[in-house]
Amino acid sequence: MCGIVGYIGHRLAQPVLLNSLGKLEYRGYDSCGIAVAERSLEVTKAVGRVVELSRLVAKGSATAGIGHTRWATHGAVTTANAHPHIDCRGRIAVVHNGIIENYLELRAALERDGHRFVSETDTEVLPHLIEKYYREGRLEEAVGLAVKCLVGSYAIIVIAAGSKSLVAARRDSPLVIGLGDRENFVASDVSAMLDYTDRVVYLEDGDICRVTADDVFIANSGTTVSRKVQVVPWTAEQVQKGGYEHFMLKEIHEQPKAVSETLAGRISVIEPAVTLDIEAPANPRNIVLTACGSSYHAALIGELLLTRLARVRARAVIASEFEQVEPTLDSDWVIAITQSGETADTLRATKKARAAGCATLAVVNVQGSTATRLCDDTLFVRAGPEVSVAATKTFIAQVVAMYLLALSRGTIDRKAETDLINELKLIPAYLSRLLDRESDIAQHGAYLARFTDIFFVARGINYPVALEGALKTKEISYVHAEAHPAGELKHGPFALLGPNMPVVALAPKDETYSLMQSSMKEIKARGSPVIAVVDEGDSDMEQVADYVIKVPAVQPLLSPILNTVVVQLISYYIAKTRGCPIDRPANLAKSVTVL
Ligand code: AGP
Repeated sequence: MCGIVGYIGHRLAQPVLLNSLGKLEYRGYDSCGIAVAERSLEVTKAVGRVVELSRLVAKGSATAGIGHTRWATHGAVTTANAHPHIDCRGRIAVVHNGIIENYLELRAALERDGHRFVSETDTEVLPHLIEKYYREGRLEEAVGLAVKCLVGSYAIIVIAAGSKSLVAARRDSPLVIGLGDRENFVASDVSAMLDYTDRVVYLEDGDICRVTADDVFIANSGTTVSRKVQVVPWTAEQVQKGGYEHFMLKEIHEQPKAVSETLAGRISVIEPAVTLDIEAPANPRNIVLTACGSSYHAALIGELLLTRLARVRARAVIASEFEQVEPTLDSDWVIAITQSGETADTLRATKKARAAGCATLAVVNVQGSTATRLCDDTLFVRAGPEVSVAATKTFIAQVVAMYLLALSRGTIDRKAETDLINELKLIPAYLSRLLDRESDIAQHGAYLARFTDIFFVARGINYPVALEGALKTKEISYVHAEAHPAGELKHGPFALLGPNMPVVALAPKDETYSLMQSSMKEIKARGSPVIAVVDEGDSDMEQVADYVIKVPAVQPLLSPILNTVVVQLISYYIAKTRGCPIDRPANLAKSVTVL
């Protein structure tokens, strides 16, 4: 996945592009480049971060240009493979996010026509195709003809030497236009333009758009279309680190606020009840929750909550496995959980669900994202912008959205429902209290950093939290971590226990507690160091575990929310102690827009 940006207006283009690319680095950061246009094009590229690029960019007077920050998919990380890519005469430059599946055949045909290629990328066919169709001053038309040849996904921005406009097009990759005063922007996402404007237009699949300093013209299938102007509810400050060493830590600390926002206006005050303003089937027989990565872990929690609280059959399905599992055969409501709203696997699963006639709901953080436009309705989790590649506050917000969804069906007894809702409202305060104990948890993270393997174990509703702990640990600290339902250890993973395999055990006082105690005794007997995460007031586990982390005691069903913070902080401090690049882990990007 990559980040792309375009600018045209009254400012010098280079500083704007470099600043915006910096904001998009979380989408890809192995190499980057910009092209600015006056009478001729000037292209500068670098391997590495935007800061390396900024050292190479010579001062110029251009007020229009495009930029790209790359996460390599086709071709190694080299300057030649970095974008922008240009045509043979160096008159047209293109930045692209997505994958062109038929690029080999297109490239062969273009080479036969005499086009010379200098990179290994799929993208390079684009400037050559556009060159083939280009007639002076008619860039939009050439882009339209070029994209007709493509199989695959693309969000592109094109600039030509001497031109007074940018041309952008999208299919299955996000692209947004930012509207300024005598200036306009195009980018993969709004974070690139929040320093300049909060008025945006989200492009739809098939849109081709010409952007000048004063206007924006959008066409789809040859017809002029208008798209709604929206105001982004996020500020530029929200996408800064605000004094924290890493975005991840800042975002972990923003979780009390994120949960308050997720709950806001969704719980009635006098008679506690959850009301969600969403279009939903009245009595769904079978619900499928589909998602990837952390969002899938939220889906697993959702599965359990919908089953227990809403008394409806629900199952979580990994989005990339959706077609194999064919859950639409017996489901009538498919809920796609995706913080970005752009994850290709989740979008593909959602399209399959729609095609099968299921009602669809997107549980999303990013306004205007593709999932919100694809589904019948959207439940926004309102976590605010999340920059770190590791999902933290968006995960918590998704989990809270699962409680709201399950409770909104109102099928458990009234007293139990009221108690749960009342305690849910207190979660932001509990989270703040837990975050005050960060330094204790940090010590356990620092201790775990010396190991090369870690197990996370739990039972019941906390098993997805164990999965989340293992995912976070792998993702940001590069330590091998696995999660197991505690009862499964004896069926195989026991073989790996011993002094070099520490175990983090999530053991709230719920109906699984005594079984967890037995599991932990068995783990200890095999020599593994055990860190138990338990309720405040629980002194029994101190007899069993080597170390104990205490979290505010809440109703057992709500314990995943608090335990999540513990595993997030543990993984953060393992990564910090090991000196890892926490916000930008190797080989990963924030939003995965390829299948
Ligand atoms: C989480 O830390 C990961 N970065 C990743 O697993 C992520 O949750 C997954 O790619 C799904 O993303 P989405 O929520 O934007 O769809």
